[in-house]
Amino acid sequence: MGLEKLLPSLIRASLDEDYRTVRSIAMRLIRRIKDTHPSIANEIAEALSQHGVGASTKRSVGISNSPVDTETLFSLVTVDEPLEVARPIFSDKVNELIDTFIQERRESKKLMSVGLNPPSSLLLYGLPGVGKTELAKYLSGVFGLNLIVLDLSSTISSYLGKTGQNLKKVLDYAKSSPSILLLDEFDAVAKRRDDMSDLGELKRIVNVLLKELEDWPNHTIVIAATNHPDLLDSAIWRRFDRAIEIGLPDKDERIKILMNELTGVNMSKDLTKIIHVIGEMAKGLSGADICKLVERAKRKSVLSEISLEDALLRELPDFIKGDTVEFNKQFCKLAKEKLDVSIRTLATWLGKSPSTIQYYLKEKGGNLDDR
Ligand SMILES: Nc1ncnc2c1ncn2[C@@H]1O[C@H](COP(=O)(O)OP(=O)(O)OP(=O)(O)O)[C@@H](O)[C@H]1O
Ligand SMILES: [Mg+2]
Repeated sequence: MGLEKLLPSLIRASLDEDYRTVRSIAMRLIRRIKDTHPSIANEIAEALSQHGVGASTKRSVGISNSPVDTETLFSLVTVDEPLEVARPIFSDKVNELIDTFIQERRESKKLMSVGLNPPSSLLLYGLPGVGKTELAKYLSGVFGLNLIVLDLSSTISSYLGKTGQNLKKVLDYAKSSPSILLLDEFDAVAKRRDDMSDLGELKRIVNVLLKELEDWPNHTIVIAATNHPDLLDSAIWRRFDRAIEIGLPDKDERIKILMNELTGVNMSKDLTKIIHVIGEMAKGLSGADICKLVERAKRKSVLSEISLEDALLRELPDFIKGDTVEFNKQFCKLAKEKLDVSIRTLATWLGKSPSTIQYYLKEKGGNLDDR
């Protein structure tokens, strides 16, 4: 059986949790690739040998059993092996801060040899969907470190009363081997300690955290991400080596994200122009919104058998909140100027009559500032 048959069968069997079949296909895979890809064959063999002896197969790649809540036995964190992912698109300033962090980590030995600590903690803050979690994944790939994710908002609600204890377990686990610990939705726990609505428990948790962060070991990176930096205690801010604000993408960044999401698509001249207009119009959208827009447009284009250009333009108004008439005016003016399209085409794109389009073009308004 060739690889093209083995792989789908392997995936089906894993999804069905049919371990007997998984093992038998894995053995065949090993036989097929042991000469051409000996290290991959070894890695599979190692995972097979761990399975069924009570350990997670991830142990074979250095991931030990993750901490669980003592009562419910639910896992407190997710642990992912490092994957090489592309760096999200950020401003030059954010990129510079990230590059410095990476470089300083890479030069850890040199820094330590003169008694300086390399940076080991980052606080990422910014609106939802700007790429905070994605940046943690990217750094896990860059450093080849497992990514341990603790979602604090769900931990706090489901383990109220035991959060402090569970948090301690997670922190100890993260410190036990080189890794990146992502404290997601960090504001859920790090609420201002003088907040009147704070429960006594939250205060204890913040104290645990402050103490742990104080002497955090160099081999593990801790990244906290939050949408509500204003809720964070100033003592917490101080504990992080670097706080990075990730803003919404500007026009050029939006265009880059669009281009990335359309990699592999045949870039006609029209599509390139339309991307520029969309990039300009999509002011206020996050990276996540833009990715969603492209995904919806791709689906629409396939199912409605329209071009991707049309689909993108038809989906766009949904993402841009506010006055639709104002949106239509802006869109028509920009498209006319940049794309030189006919009134009829604009009418089809916006689902309006040609006379309405003429009205939009003549009317005042619809001017964009240059962001
Ligand atoms: N700057 C960006 N460049 C490229 N893609 C992005 C960017 N920001 C977000 N995305 C896309 O959106 C998805 C969601 O982003 P992510 O989960 O990192 O946002 P977040 O800032 O962590 O949001 P939240 O605060 O809601 O957790 C990413 O997987 C990525 O595909
Ligand atoms: Mg996130």
